[in-house]
Amino acid sequence: MPSIDVSNLRKSYGANEALKGVSFSVEPGEVVGFLGPNGAGKTTTMKILSGFIAPTNGSAQVDGNDVVADSLAVRECIGYLPENAPVYTEMLVRDYLEFICQVRGLPEQQRPARMAAVVEQVGLEEVLGRSIDELSKGFRQRVGLAQALIHDPPILILDEPTSGLDPNQIVGIRSLIRDISENKTILLSTHILQEVSALCSRVLIVSDGQIVGFGTPAEIEAQAAGSARVEVVLVGEGDVRGKLAALPGVVRVDDGAGEGAGTLAFSLVIESGADVRGDIFALAVASGWTLLELRREGQSLEDAFRVLTTGVA
Ligand SMILES: Nc1ncnc2c1ncn2[C@@H]1O[C@H](COP(=O)(O)OP(=O)(O)O)[C@@H](O)[C@H]1O
Ligand SMILES: [Mg+2]
Repeated sequence: MPSIDVSNLRKSYGANEALKGVSFSVEPGEVVGFLGPNGAGKTTTMKILSGFIAPTNGSAQVDGNDVVADSLAVRECIGYLPENAPVYTEMLVRDYLEFICQVRGLPEQQRPARMAAVVEQVGLEEVLGRSIDELSKGFRQRVGLAQALIHDPPILILDEPTSGLDPNQIVGIRSLIRDISENKTILLSTHILQEVSALCSRVLIVSDGQIVGFGTPAEIEAQAAGSARVEVVLVGEGDVRGKLAALPGVVRVDDGAGEGAGTLAFSLVIESGADVRGDIFALAVASGWTLLELRREGQSLEDAFRVLTTGVA
């Protein structure tokens, strides 16, 4: 049974259709990155999964529980870190976490052990006696994670867990998420690409309320790789451009960045999955050209993201 199973989910806010039929599933133990530009529908999806808002149409199950019909069971198996740093409050960290234990209905005799375990796990020992509103954003985010973890749920939904943090805090929170991911299923949203490469086994790309890509970072790159290129710089005579264009796997020959007088530079658009470098080398040898440069420009996750969310290579 998947940990998260979403089927044709739709959500409208008045006339604005924020989700236009979203389907995906997450297997137990996975860390899935939910990536998309602002307004794509990430937070809306996560609020539906956590049972905070209802979908307009479609369905979602969390650990086999329907988010609408069994929302109490859903809240038990999910820990949710909302988008904006939680709780600007004068409550002490210790009192706040005790309060969450109560809200969660944790049996009283279990609370001290759960508190101690979570406080140690997310590194809150030194600020237990401080009030939340005087903590740094990084510590406040740790309080948010503690709140999400306190009932030891198997599934975590983290909405932009590192947004607004400084680089050191980002490193800290990422390594914390990596530790936590050893025994939890995690769906984490971000608009930061590096976050995905750093943490996630699979990536779900959403754009304008629709899924436009789902797979491992490598699969996503391949999926968008229609625009992969090979850069060639050579010295040679004859119909060089025509011969390159005739190679199997070459879609188009553009001008490349030249090295100056006497050299020819081309930028070849190649078919997805093709690697024409061997053929180019053989062609150069057969034609008596001198190859100065032969380089494949890898399709980065960044390129893939741009292609998939804007359609522009
Ligand atoms: N409470 C709301 N009322 C009206 N429109 C909303 C509300 N929340 C989100 N939206 C709209 O739904 C779309 C998706 O928003 P959201 O899920 O927050 O995207 P993301 O988290 O990917 O930035 C956006 O067009 C946004 O303006
Ligand atoms: Mg959001």
